[in-house]
Amino acid sequence: MKNFIYKNPTKIIFGEGQIAKLSDEIPTDAKILMLYGGGSIKKNGIYDQVMEALGSRTLVEFGGVPANPEYEVLMEAVELISKEKLDYILAVGGGSVIDGAKFIAAAVNYKGEEPWDILAKGEEIHEAVPFSTVLTLPATGSEMNSGAVISRRSTKDKHSFGSPLLYPQCSILDPTVIHSLPKRQLANGVVDSFNHVLEQYLTYPTDAILQDHFAESILQTLVEVGEKVIENPKDYKMASNFMWSCTMALNGLIAQGVPTDWGVHGIGHELTALYGIDHARTLAIVGPRYYEHTFESKKVKLAQYAERVWNIGEGSLEDKAKQAINKTESFYHSLGVDTRLSDYTDDYEGTAETIEKRFSERGWEGIGENKSVTPNDVKEIIKATY
Ligand code: NZQ
Ligand code: ZN
Repeated sequence: MKNFIYKNPTKIIFGEGQIAKLSDEIPTDAKILMLYGGGSIKKNGIYDQVMEALGSRTLVEFGGVPANPEYEVLMEAVELISKEKLDYILAVGGGSVIDGAKFIAAAVNYKGEEPWDILAKGEEIHEAVPFSTVLTLPATGSEMNSGAVISRRSTKDKHSFGSPLLYPQCSILDPTVIHSLPKRQLANGVVDSFNHVLEQYLTYPTDAILQDHFAESILQTLVEVGEKVIENPKDYKMASNFMWSCTMALNGLIAQGVPTDWGVHGIGHELTALYGIDHARTLAIVGPRYYEHTFESKKVKLAQYAERVWNIGEGSLEDKAKQAINKTESFYHSLGVDTRLSDYTDDYEGTAETIEKRFSERGWEGIGENKSVTPNDVKEIIKATY
């Protein structure tokens, strides 16, 4: 196992009816920016629960954070915080709203030229406005990690960033919030969290026995609950296990001591930036083809995944590894998620070359756990998704 330092300071309050606990977590004298998305929280009762918990605290609302949160919109909230002298952010939403809160928290006191540099140039941040979250969509793990992904419409860019200063102080995880989620978003949550585990697991073997078992147990749970939670989000047993799996998939725990490969996400972000395809669906498109292309370096872990998650006991190591990729793709199909770029757009010709060029221009010469996936490989992987 590799050496590691692990600290995750986010307090999780989990369970039905727990949104009321916000009143114990947010200082009574906090001047709050309450951030939310397109308005689902006003229809499903979450907004009312949050308002009741916050009582008479000073609060300014900022709604309208779009899916794949946009820099231009978030900068309006940055201005609002400065104008109203607010000192706390409460994000009520899914990954997009929570990521938006992280960017706002980082941008308010940013001393550099323009806050976009935090994303485009990876500029470090030195302070952040404290924030907490009420999660409404299990998927990204953003509620218990310190990363965020922000888009810029004008340049069709989508970049990630992170800082130890950007862990939420507290996140409320009430599994009943998923009652109002459309099936499409439930399926996205299963596929996104599944891929988070795969990206931290499908590399090469190390002697991190416990990490492998952690990862496999999250994958097994998602396979067990995935279809059922989409079918009936009101089943609390399914909803609670689904929600906790999503959080555990990307809160740092399973990444400690092991190599990771965020290549599927890196390529997937380009498909969202270019075509607006839902984040999770880009992973379903790229993942199977990425694992086929990197088969030689990943086949030992792929075969282990085949045996332990898909119960494939027969065949050579290569056979098992190939079956694991097929099983993964079939799993996405069983959730109603398509896995070809051409399922999402007719305008896919040239996509591979465009993304190859973008990777080269950014100097992303080698991605993957061995830094061996070149822009040319990326082009081949994308062509294979057509
Ligand atoms: O905007 P509203 O009206 O709230 O509707 C949202 C949105 O349309 C709706 N929704 C959320 N909760 C709901 C609900 N509808 C009904 N009932 C509820 N309880 O769902 C739609 C999608 O929401 P969004 O927040 O965009 O989805 P998700 O949580 O999948 O977040 C995706 C974003 O997170 C980033 C992605 O790249 C993407 O930008 N990611 C963030 C990560 C992180 N910070 O660690 C890691 C991930 O890999 C991912 O990249
Ligand atoms: Zn993801």
